[in-house]
Amino acid sequence: MDQKRILLIVGGGIAAYKALELTRLLRKAGVGVRPILTAAGAQFVTPLSLSALAEDRVYSDLFSLTDEAEMGHIELSRSADLAVVAPTTADLMAKLAHGHASDLASTTLLATDKPVLMAPAMNVRMWEHPATQRNLDQLRRDGVRFVGPEEGAMACGEYGQGRMAEPQAIFDAIMPLLGGAARPLAGKRVIVTAGPTAEPIDPVRLLTNRSSGKQGYAIASALAGLGADVTLVSGPTALPAPAGVRRVPVETAREMLAACEAALPADIAVCVAAVADWRPESAGTGKMKKGSGGPPQLTLVENPDILATLSKDSRRPRLVVGFAAETDDVEAHAAAKLEKKGCDWIVANDVSVEGTMGGDENAIAIVTRGGIERWERMAKGEVARRLAQRIAEELK
Ligand code: C5P
Repeated sequence: MDQKRILLIVGGGIAAYKALELTRLLRKAGVGVRPILTAAGAQFVTPLSLSALAEDRVYSDLFSLTDEAEMGHIELSRSADLAVVAPTTADLMAKLAHGHASDLASTTLLATDKPVLMAPAMNVRMWEHPATQRNLDQLRRDGVRFVGPEEGAMACGEYGQGRMAEPQAIFDAIMPLLGGAARPLAGKRVIVTAGPTAEPIDPVRLLTNRSSGKQGYAIASALAGLGADVTLVSGPTALPAPAGVRRVPVETAREMLAACEAALPADIAVCVAAVADWRPESAGTGKMKKGSGGPPQLTLVENPDILATLSKDSRRPRLVVGFAAETDDVEAHAAAKLEKKGCDWIVANDVSVEGTMGGDENAIAIVTRGGIERWERMAKGEVARRLAQRIAEELK
């Protein structure tokens, strides 16, 4: 990696502190970091910290005679293999989407002929604003790659999408773009199911559950990061499709099964979705009316078990992984599930621990026919990265 270099543009935002950690991770991996600090960015981190970690000087002024003498902005923009903007403000997105070149950062982004990766960080309302979303669409069409933003609590006290991706996740998105990452799953086809299913009761009512899809999406993303060709069959979630993943949106369990079968043959299947066990027998074509006869009786019928079906398929993937959300006696139930479903691993998690369902952390145990591996509690992104590595080792 020694010969690889990134141009790291640090925009203004509280997430700028994470750019320091990103710099450290990149340097540790032997990647050169040439930092550009915007005027707003310099309100949050100092040029000295950035320069010390990057082991390079920090560029910030478009019209600095010294900089121009040493390295003009055009040369600067070409001096790296990849431009990374972390944090990317709404302003930086708007500037590049519209082709502004009003400071060193925007001029460099406009002048570069190298790939650009943006890690947006902003208030949720700024992120959701139609102007920002239009700029996002435009930038994507122009070939800009994105990592994050993620959903969570914000420094401004609000909650929602807009938190910058964690340094490790940005690092993981950078490495394949530099072409230097280990891609142990290159050429492997993977099916990941994620999110809840939604089973219609009538045209307006649904039977569904609280699954956020976060863990499944993080796993799909981590597997793609290792080079896998990932089909993410997803029930309804509020999450953006991870970069480099083919997402197939579905609603019901039966649609999810059909989408999985259509994605066969595959080398690996990871069933993370919280599939509804039952669905109303008939959804009817008209909205059920309140009547004098009291509430309607719903007749439920069993849904297909996608994990069990994939495990039995004649084109069975070599490795089939299921998840088990349990509230008690987690590992014993997981071991029983392994047999019942016919899969190779069950990743058990204790959802009785507060914050697991819909939260950002997970404590899991991998139950295989060979035994149990218990992992300490960690962020769902970290669980995903380690699980993807573990899967890659298994397939070696
Ligand atoms: O039986 P239980 O729902 O606890 O099993 C959980 C595992 O089975 C998960 O991997 C889930 O994705 C999968 N599953 C499935 N289809 C169903 C029910 C569960 O694929 N109908």
